[in-house]
Amino acid sequence: MVNPGKEAAATAALSYVEDNMYVGLGTGSTAKIFIEKLAQRVKDENLTITCAATSIFSAELAASLGLKVVPLDDVDELDINVDGADEVDPQLNGIKGGGAALFYEKIVAKTAKKNIWIVDPSKQSEQLGSFKLPIEVLPFGSKHVFNYLKHDLNLDPTFRLQADGSLLTTDSDNYIIDVDVAKIDNLYELADELIRHVGILEHGLFMDICDILIVGDEPAQIIERQN
Ligand code: A5P
Repeated sequence: MVNPGKEAAATAALSYVEDNMYVGLGTGSTAKIFIEKLAQRVKDENLTITCAATSIFSAELAASLGLKVVPLDDVDELDINVDGADEVDPQLNGIKGGGAALFYEKIVAKTAKKNIWIVDPSKQSEQLGSFKLPIEVLPFGSKHVFNYLKHDLNLDPTFRLQADGSLLTTDSDNYIIDVDVAKIDNLYELADELIRHVGILEHGLFMDICDILIVGDEPAQIIERQN
């Protein structure tokens, strides 16, 4: 069933796309709607758009709909990157990685001049932490990283599993450990701590990355990051 909030946000993001742009494609159900709408607009208006995607799923979907998708390393810079989010606060900081794509999502985001997040109103929160923070870890030694998150940082970690009970692996063949950050006051400090720990590839704290948040309300609400 279509979520009207996601649909409205994805539709509003289309107006940021201009001919000859390089566009980053996010991952998740809201990004999927955007990709479908973008493909339709490119066809209808015969636009020249080059895309780089944040997951194998989004790359394959976009290509199957006729969009030109290239590897990220073939692009110097993306004009815009349109992605969803799992939770976003009033400063436009957020948690991402519910779809396990956080590493690709962050590196694509860092390649973009402008990051646009498209969310339904349920994703907004006063303080981040109601959504579990995903952390992508290398498989080798991951039990030790798990123990560090559990005993040193007290973050109540769990390895993310697939439906059959096996460990979920990301597009780059790593594991995801989800942790509870609801009681953490300073998420900038936590982000620094996590990224410095050996075995952690990336985490889903996206601080100071989103430039424009589109909340799929009636009408869509556009919120720009204040620097
Ligand atoms: C993917 O890893 C996530 O960061 C998604 O962007 C996020 O989970 C949003 O997903 P939905 O658009 O499906 O809510």
